[in-house]
Amino acid sequence: MGKYVINGGRKLSGKITVQSAKNSVMPMMAGSLLTDDPVVIKKCPKIADVFSMLNILKSLGTVAFFENDDLVIMPKYTKSNKTEKNQAKALRSSIFLMGALVSRFKKAEISLPGGCDIGERPIDIHVDLLKSMGCEISQTTDGINCVGNKLKCCEFRLPFASVGATENAILAAVKLNGTTVLKNVAREPEIIDLVCFLRSMGAKIYGEGTKTIQIEGVKKLRGTEYQPIGDRVEAGTFLTAVAISGGELEIKGINSENISSLIHKLCENSCKITVKNDIIYIKSGKTRKPFSLVTGPYPLFATDLQAQAMTLACLSEGQSVIRENVFENRFRHVEELKKFGADIKVYGRAAVINGVKEFIPANVYAKDLRGGASLVLGALNAKGSSTVFDVYHIERGYADFDLKLRSIGADITKIN
Ligand code: UD1
Repeated sequence: MGKYVINGGRKLSGKITVQSAKNSVMPMMAGSLLTDDPVVIKKCPKIADVFSMLNILKSLGTVAFFENDDLVIMPKYTKSNKTEKNQAKALRSSIFLMGALVSRFKKAEISLPGGCDIGERPIDIHVDLLKSMGCEISQTTDGINCVGNKLKCCEFRLPFASVGATENAILAAVKLNGTTVLKNVAREPEIIDLVCFLRSMGAKIYGEGTKTIQIEGVKKLRGTEYQPIGDRVEAGTFLTAVAISGGELEIKGINSENISSLIHKLCENSCKITVKNDIIYIKSGKTRKPFSLVTGPYPLFATDLQAQAMTLACLSEGQSVIRENVFENRFRHVEELKKFGADIKVYGRAAVINGVKEFIPANVYAKDLRGGASLVLGALNAKGSSTVFDVYHIERGYADFDLKLRSIGADITKIN
């Protein structure tokens, strides 16, 4: 399953370039099925979730392969509208295929998606959205059957600004006759990125980044070559690593506005941060101060950076409070952080953290993707040898995490 052995206590310094955003690439891979022409996703990260999605696409008949760092997808060979149970279970993003396959074939059989075990993660909003577009949906033992012979545009208000449901609805609506209006949609930068990707294929979509999106259906989409935005979660993880380990770092390829909520917390905590174009420069401070944060839909603090911020709070003088408002079970890293000596008490969705000066080395287990990253940050602080087990969770979302950390001075070795 793989482990990282980390000798902590070293300062970090140097430069890194972030990968393309995982959360942009996943719906784009599904969105490529909306055309017959080749689609190229440039500088696509070679992470496990991308390879899982690639396997699903291949099992549908799609021809898809990496050409150096670019992912080439040839959707015209796509023959099947059914995702295999074992493959779809590997990642949550398989749900995007529902909207894309219904649009392409008017029919889809989707196995229930997997992904990180961070709560219930129901798909009721996805289902209700497609139903309101005229899709007949029935549940099977493994998943759901969607029949969309009479698909029509609709007006729909999402009960919660779900990122995935917003993206799924956009994919399903792009080629419908007429105008679809989606209200209370998610406003994450990756949604804007998906819209720009679809627009480069000829889609007519308006209002991305606001609470209402209008989609004017077009008959046909063409292929595209598209470079997704930089990964704000990867950038945020490295910024937090520097705040925790000390040192200075230049991070290239990221729009700082997309992580302004984290940047504010890091400045409040200890760091000096400056921004020039797509480069963020961070220098750690001397004393780490406590902070409080509440996660929520963009532009609020990203739930995908909550665990990493918690490691920082554990090592900051005084009391910090972190409230997780997006997922109901996203504190699985807490028990592992305690093995480093962290003082954390969980009250429902809130964690109260009393800072300690430094961590002690420990053997810990990654339980999910971002929680796993938070443990690596913890190990970087502990003077001595720590081991983070089950790093396959981390590799779902970070390409070459160990190599990138090593390139900026961390003593980290992966053992398979
Ligand atoms: C996406 C991101 C993930 C991030 C999350 C929240 C991708 C590939 N993944 O996940 O990294 O952590 O946004 O920013 O982009 N919900 C329902 N019913 C639904 C759909 C969602 O109740 O039909 C609930 C979920 O259980 C959760 C909340 O809404 O509590 C947020 O989920 P959602 O925004 O849909 O997250 P994902 O799209 O799964």
